[in-house]
Amino acid sequence: MKLTGKTVVLGITGGIAAYKACELASRLRKAGAETYVIMTKNACEFVAPLSFETLTNHPVVTDTFARPETWEVEHVALAKKADIFVIAPATANIMAKMACGIADDMLSTTVLATKAPVLVAPAMNTGMWDNIATKANVETLKKRGVHFVGPDGGYLACGDSGAGRMSEPEAIFDAICGILCPCQDMAGLNVLVTAGPTRESLDPVRYITNHSSGKMGYAIAQAAKRRGAHVTLLSGPVQLTAPEGVEVVDVLSTQDLYDRMMERCESQHIIIQAAAPADFTPVTFAEEKIKKDGDGIMTIALKETKDVAKAVGERKQMGQVLVGFAAETEKVTEHAKAKLKKKNLDMIVANDVTRPGAGFNVDTNIVTFITEEGMEDMPRLSKADVAEMLLDRALKLYRK
Ligand code: PMT
Repeated sequence: MKLTGKTVVLGITGGIAAYKACELASRLRKAGAETYVIMTKNACEFVAPLSFETLTNHPVVTDTFARPETWEVEHVALAKKADIFVIAPATANIMAKMACGIADDMLSTTVLATKAPVLVAPAMNTGMWDNIATKANVETLKKRGVHFVGPDGGYLACGDSGAGRMSEPEAIFDAICGILCPCQDMAGLNVLVTAGPTRESLDPVRYITNHSSGKMGYAIAQAAKRRGAHVTLLSGPVQLTAPEGVEVVDVLSTQDLYDRMMERCESQHIIIQAAAPADFTPVTFAEEKIKKDGDGIMTIALKETKDVAKAVGERKQMGQVLVGFAAETEKVTEHAKAKLKKKNLDMIVANDVTRPGAGFNVDTNIVTFITEEGMEDMPRLSKADVAEMLLDRALKLYRK
């Protein structure tokens, strides 16, 4: 069984999706995992602890001050026992507590004490999910390495439609397996990823750039590393933490990206170019800050930068797989297909950057994978999920 020998601590908070956690607990047990459930007081209003006791064959913990019966219930014992700590469903409240380090019940206390990886499956009303406070808490938790699965979009129990549905138990189970038994299908491969914007300087204080946050490229680098690849990340200036174990090379301008790429591209098995390098750069760089001249109009002469992906395509090695992205605002597939050809790519990932939830500086993307053979449209997915799907396809092309 897939999870034999593993211990899962499953935290359940108060939401209608708590009933779906029964199926998750059942799957975990069938897969061989020892599963211990901690429920908040509110969770017990939705599902009776007895259901989980029956499904897991262990007492359910609901009270910090409960007296141990047949096994140790204090928070440290469960925190230590866990190979993974899963909270599903996770309310906005538990995420806020986790982000702030608040420990005022058994669940928040135990998750604060654990050193195990933590996976959160949020479930809440769309308004709560979209709230700036929730967004900030999610960002904080992600920066600390907390894993997320979902939430999905769709019809919510409160009658609203939008993001906020807890992911299906199957998806949460897959995410647990992905963390506990990461597949190493990219072991031995050199993977180079580009991410983020470039900056093209006008003078010592000004530059031209774009809205790329680097999130897409960093998600790919992180996923490739987790799958066992040796990963080099050529990164433009971004506000993200470097993924553990990835060799990060900082670049500033498109010329910089070109230079660093040319030093490395021939030794890579797979190259994935998610960066948004500036297509134009000022013809001249003013050594001193440019002053206003009083006529109300400023004209800057620009020239085209080097096309890095095209240069890599011209140097393509035998068996190498090249993947590019296409950031489009109209005629998305038409333009993307032209770039696939022009840059000698094996696959291009088209994203319409005008669609909500896609493209620049968001945690999700809506992409179409395009190869010579055909196209696959994807729904809105987290960038982490897009990264995994992209790598599945790149690997398939590599092994062809
Ligand atoms: O960083 P995020 O905020 O997460 O946003 C993600 C993203 C929108 C930046 C990403 O999903 C994306 O679409 N990246 C490609 C952006 C882009 O420059 O697209 P393009 O269509 O202009 O370029 C096509 C390909 O050529 C890209 O792989 C690009 O890296 C590459 N290129 C472009 C210009 C240039 N001078 N040299 C290049 O190599």
